[in-house]
Amino acid sequence: MYCKTWLLVSLFILLNILLLFFTARTLERQKWLKLNVVIPQNYKFILDLPEKCQQQEPFVVIIVPVAPENIEARNAIRTTWGNEGLVRDKIVLVLFLLGSRSGNETLQEQLQNESQQHGDLLQSSFQDTYRNLTVKTLVMMEWLSRKCPQASYAAKVDADVLLNVKNLLYMLVSLNTLERNYITGLVLSVNNVMRDPTSKFYIPHDVYPRSRYPPYPQGMCYIFSMDLPEKILHISRFVRPIFIEDAYIGMCLRRLGIRPEKLNFGQFLIRPPEHLDRFYYSGLIAILTQSPSQLISYWMDVQSSNKLC
Ligand SMILES: *[C@@H]1O[C@H](CO)[C@@H](O)[C@H](O)[C@H]1NC(C)=O
Ligand SMILES: *[C@@H]1O[C@H](CO)[C@@H](O)[C@H](O)[C@H]1NC(C)=O
Ligand SMILES: *[C@@H]1O[C@H](CO)[C@@H](O)[C@H](O)[C@H]1NC(C)=O
Repeated sequence: MYCKTWLLVSLFILLNILLLFFTARTLERQKWLKLNVVIPQNYKFILDLPEKCQQQEPFVVIIVPVAPENIEARNAIRTTWGNEGLVRDKIVLVLFLLGSRSGNETLQEQLQNESQQHGDLLQSSFQDTYRNLTVKTLVMMEWLSRKCPQASYAAKVDADVLLNVKNLLYMLVSLNTLERNYITGLVLSVNNVMRDPTSKFYIPHDVYPRSRYPPYPQGMCYIFSMDLPEKILHISRFVRPIFIEDAYIGMCLRRLGIRPEKLNFGQFLIRPPEHLDRFYYSGLIAILTQSPSQLISYWMDVQSSNKLC
């Protein structure tokens, strides 16, 4: 009799200890997540275009993340592929997304002027650094989900990319029905995590334990359906951020159970030749360039070979 009671009491105590242990671990994990996740709503927009999508009703909105001082890259895009507006009867809206450089009043005044002149700048209050690129991407997702639900698709395109907007539109229109859970680009399927501490992409084991990232579209250019920004934002609260923004998108996609669609690899050019001609260009969607002047020079190559025919 005594023995039985003692057994029950000990069992009860043991269960309590286990319960305490697991609660502590869960609390610890929640505390950790609170400290580490990126909450884009914590930042505010210094330059915003809250009515732009409502006014223009774009089919696709292209966001170009760019450093605040990189006006040269913005102007190169404005005078080339960013200037098309209407392609295949669809409205294309191109906007630039900047973070902040605290303490540089001159730069901020220049940005105000640039914004008044072109009406295409979004600037958020976080510090614009390489290590904050994931913050930038999540701020972009937040802006898209709140201010641009009208669009059918969005794309994130780096500032050093020459985009063939016609081909992009051709691809999107050929999807026929509006896709959901759709994301595409130059999808990297087998990408090992860098464990060499001297690498620019080094990620310690305790930050991300797996040896490979899930499949993700390379950051130079990816295209997605407009239901995704909100889903990615939501799931990002449960996925520990890493600064490699495109791999992080892959981690969020895996949690969402979404596989990025593969496009033809040849449509993305990371090491382009010295000159582009029209025929070559007509099969491409995105071309990485070395400088704004190279971007413009490629554009001129394509335009001049167009005129010959
Ligand atoms: C502020 O921005 C201007 C314009 O981009 C730049 O020329 C200048 O060097 C910057 N000043 C500082 C202190 O970073
Ligand atoms: C911004 O524009 C105003 C008015 O056009 C001009 O006076 C000012 O110098 C400009 N500021 C900068 C930093 O370019
Ligand atoms: C990212 O931005 C935040 C908010 O401005 C800033 O506090 C933080 O230092 C930045 N992080 C890095 C790594 O630059």
